[in-house]
Amino acid sequence: MKPASTRLNLSSLDAAREHIAHARRVAVLTGAGISAESGIPTFRDATTGLWARFDPMQLASEDGFRADPPLVWRWYAWRRELVANAQPNAGHYALASAQSRFDSFELITQNVDGLHARAGSAPIELHGSIVRTVCLARCGFAEDDPKRLPPGEPPRCPRCNDWLRPDVVWFGEMLDVATLQQALVAAARCDVMLVIGTSGLVYPAAGLPAEALRHGARVVILNPQASELDELATVVVRGTAAVELPRLFAAA
Ligand code: APR
Repeated sequence: MKPASTRLNLSSLDAAREHIAHARRVAVLTGAGISAESGIPTFRDATTGLWARFDPMQLASEDGFRADPPLVWRWYAWRRELVANAQPNAGHYALASAQSRFDSFELITQNVDGLHARAGSAPIELHGSIVRTVCLARCGFAEDDPKRLPPGEPPRCPRCNDWLRPDVVWFGEMLDVATLQQALVAAARCDVMLVIGTSGLVYPAAGLPAEALRHGARVVILNPQASELDELATVVVRGTAAVELPRLFAAA
């Protein structure tokens, strides 16, 4: 007899494939886990996670930034460099090539690393983008190319002289209303929501699977470990994104 975990893996992958094969409208919610196999650390891993090694309130909040702008700027510059040197993995590519096979395929991500876009998707970026820089005073200045930024750690806004900051949603900040609305509509309209590589601890993103379920969708979770959202799942696939996503869509 096979060990229980192997049995679960095989049967749940087949069940997940079935749901996807019958879906017309798919929504996908991704978290840091989808980029783990590209070498980008997740946030809440007890040993390697960014929040285990660094204080999120110091590095990912406006108060933290104002307390020490050069420190926070350098931390994001380090992460931008990490992302620039990383490549999308087979999971990102499987999602990008699946999008044309459904009536609608909405990819919602909490990630700020830009790897979905580099793989060919056009994601709804709930938490912004680490690649884009904006003015702390929100004067309207934005720069998409880190190479074109003025010098300085952090640089000053060429329009209003306030600090420049990464265009990401920090702790205590609201998500962009239109972006969140787009994600909620996608969740409400889908037949299947696929939830990949998120711990399900950060709201409002973590509320999207419940929204999909409330509107009658199936929820498929792909994660090598238990998450807060498992109890909502129609099917849980225990595996990693780069390995399981190509399999999930290969037979759909
Ligand atoms: N494939 C799929 N999932 C994986 C993989 C992998 N190779 N490796 C790890 N995971 C899973 C972990 O088991 C965990 O459930 O990815 C999840 C990562 O969880 P978090 O580190 O909490 O990341 P995330 O859920 O994206 O965090 C949400 O919190 O700090 C904020 O703004 C930040 O967007 C982030 C938000």
